[in-house]
Amino acid sequence: MEQQKSRDETIVLKVKNLTKKYGERVAVNNLNFDIKKGEIFGFLGANGAGKSTTMKMLSGIANPTSGEIFICGKSLTKNFEKAIINLGGMVETPQFYPYLTGFQNLKYFASLYSNISKQKIMDIVALVGLSVRINEKVKNYSLGMKQRLGIAQALLHNPKILILDEPTNGLDANGIREIKSFLKKIARQRGTAIMISSHILAIMEDVCDRVCIIDKGRIVETKTISEIKRRYTSNGTHYIKTNAPNYAGMILEKQFAIKCKISGDKVLLTTNEKDLARIIIKLTSFKIPIFGAGEINYSLEDIYLNVVGVDNEIK
Ligand SMILES: Nc1ncnc2c1ncn2[C@@H]1O[C@H](COP(=O)(O)OP(=O)(O)OP(=O)(O)O)[C@@H](O)[C@H]1O
Ligand SMILES: [Mg+2]
Repeated sequence: MEQQKSRDETIVLKVKNLTKKYGERVAVNNLNFDIKKGEIFGFLGANGAGKSTTMKMLSGIANPTSGEIFICGKSLTKNFEKAIINLGGMVETPQFYPYLTGFQNLKYFASLYSNISKQKIMDIVALVGLSVRINEKVKNYSLGMKQRLGIAQALLHNPKILILDEPTNGLDANGIREIKSFLKKIARQRGTAIMISSHILAIMEDVCDRVCIIDKGRIVETKTISEIKRRYTSNGTHYIKTNAPNYAGMILEKQFAIKCKISGDKVLLTTNEKDLARIIIKLTSFKIPIFGAGEINYSLEDIYLNVVGVDNEIK
């Protein structure tokens, strides 16, 4: 595969018709997507949707039944070593030597690569917030601490793409805030692409540039958060709060042919920021008091449930 030349558009991971079958069950069904340099790509899906299976195949832990994976332009099946060197992964619970310390574990994993200094290891340990406990045995670590160590391990060799399956599992509120900030930092500052799955949609909404929704092994949607929100915004994109919503709505529809809906003390309409400002000027010329106006904030959770439904049964 030819790598694209434009800097920001450089594709670091390309997935083509990726499929994984376990006997009769199709766990991952013909996935196609690209991840670009410095992009944080969220992978959303219910239990059993196929997230971990996909991430295992991308990390070289499981073999695809069919399809292709290219990491930095190198085929993972045909050129494994050259492809996998660009990837750092943490899929499901990270495994460590329990009787070694966190640092000894990282030192061991670092020795599998060349040129990873002690300083570099300690910098990464600091980045994941584990400096104080790094010389304790891993068997005494909490789940959240193991999770942080797993992310440190994945980052050791400066990968171009980081695959993190549920990295917020077991993290406390502080841990989650820290992980969000350092994921953004390594994506923005180092240009590392990050593919992340999480059940906590608020986290995904905060950190991801794009999300891919997967349901029963198939991709339902791959879009930026704002595109997804726009697509699922049936009532309108913006609101105007007033004490005369019906009158305001009537003026907008009759005088200016703008379609709108009334919800409590708000007029809902589909527009953009500039037109909203013009509309407010029009309404005030009719002496309608405006108490507030802006974009409607649909949560990713609302949208996700809308896309995959609320059926709770594992298939
Ligand atoms: N080793 C295996 N053998 C047989 N079936 C498997 C195996 N691993 C996964 N599966 C099946 O593949 C499907 C996808 O599982 P996967 O672990 O990828 O889901 P997931 O999206 O990561 O779910 P979760 O949110 O619960 O982690 C499930 O139906 C699961 O039972
Ligand atoms: Mg999983």
